[in-house]
Amino acid sequence: MKNNTSPTNPLGLKNIHHVEFWVGNAKQAAFFYRHAFGFSQLAYSGLETGNRETSSYLLQQSKARILLTTPLNSNSPINDHLVKHGDGIRDIAFHVEDTDAAFEEAVRRGAFVAQEPRDITDEHGTVRHAAVKTYGDTIHSLISYKDYRGAFLPGFQPKEVAGKDVGIVRVDHIVGNVELGKMNYWCDYYAQVFGFERFISFDDKDISTEYSALMSIVMSDNSHSIKFPLNEPATGKRKSQIEEYLDFYGGPGAQHVALLCKDILATVRNLRDNGVEFLTVPDSYYEMLPERVGKIDEDAALIRNLGILVDRDEEGYLLQLFTKPVEDRPTLFFEIIQRHGSRGFGKGNFRALFESIEAEQAKRGNL
Ligand code: FE2
Repeated sequence: MKNNTSPTNPLGLKNIHHVEFWVGNAKQAAFFYRHAFGFSQLAYSGLETGNRETSSYLLQQSKARILLTTPLNSNSPINDHLVKHGDGIRDIAFHVEDTDAAFEEAVRRGAFVAQEPRDITDEHGTVRHAAVKTYGDTIHSLISYKDYRGAFLPGFQPKEVAGKDVGIVRVDHIVGNVELGKMNYWCDYYAQVFGFERFISFDDKDISTEYSALMSIVMSDNSHSIKFPLNEPATGKRKSQIEEYLDFYGGPGAQHVALLCKDILATVRNLRDNGVEFLTVPDSYYEMLPERVGKIDEDAALIRNLGILVDRDEEGYLLQLFTKPVEDRPTLFFEIIQRHGSRGFGKGNFRALFESIEAEQAKRGNL
């Protein structure tokens, strides 16, 4: 890969366009994300719209968009992905200024090609699409609009099913788990190809428990609106949570999607009412909390009651909470996060959190 130090948004990235999950049964997954996470369904592509290959459901909540896709026949290459990984994230798609320019520059900077630029067209117009690879079997689509006026992307038709909004606003960050020794490789890839910078890094002194450890570097675009932390396992006495993920996902992949909200008390109450399961921390966490984070706007009793975690840094504080994995394989999970000035990732919560994760790992016989 070439070393390039030129301006900070070389590919003309605008934002995360959507996150696509390849799943075994998109109809049921859509039901889950509508009823558990409060997404609304907006568009659909499948047999009824003339798509003989896949069924896809577009779900949205404020600016967070997820696309759930399942293959309709045994010849689909998606099946290989499902056999290897189970349900998981295939594509973290970017909206870009100009797909052709973004793709050309990405390849010039050393990106691995997943899809050459092409038109995707239906009666509502045309979208330009290309894709580059990232860790594991994960890709980044590069999407730009020419004259497209349809519901989502060509091939989709509006099919609205309202969900009960829980207050999720947008994707805050998406974390990738990579193999031991590969974290710096993929950080360099994001720096060189996408012009991202190292925002924060954590090592095994920050993130370790008695048993396991991990290393993490957060890569970010220049506006800090697209943030991709990358984790690799660090040596511990037992199997780390990252190794457990890599074993069950069959290699590197997206570990968690953090969803930003504005009123985490309301959001978490809604999610809990909907049956979403979260990791829990011991009571001692809340006994030490006032001393650790000082005064916060939220009611301490409610925070404790809902099991929300709090961390403070020089810039402010944040509130966060992590779900248990949302598949049977202990792979992908979600984070719910609200920021009060802090742009961090909850370093002060790592120990309590990882002890909680390890308790779950032990129950699964994976520690
Ligand atoms: Fe996170």
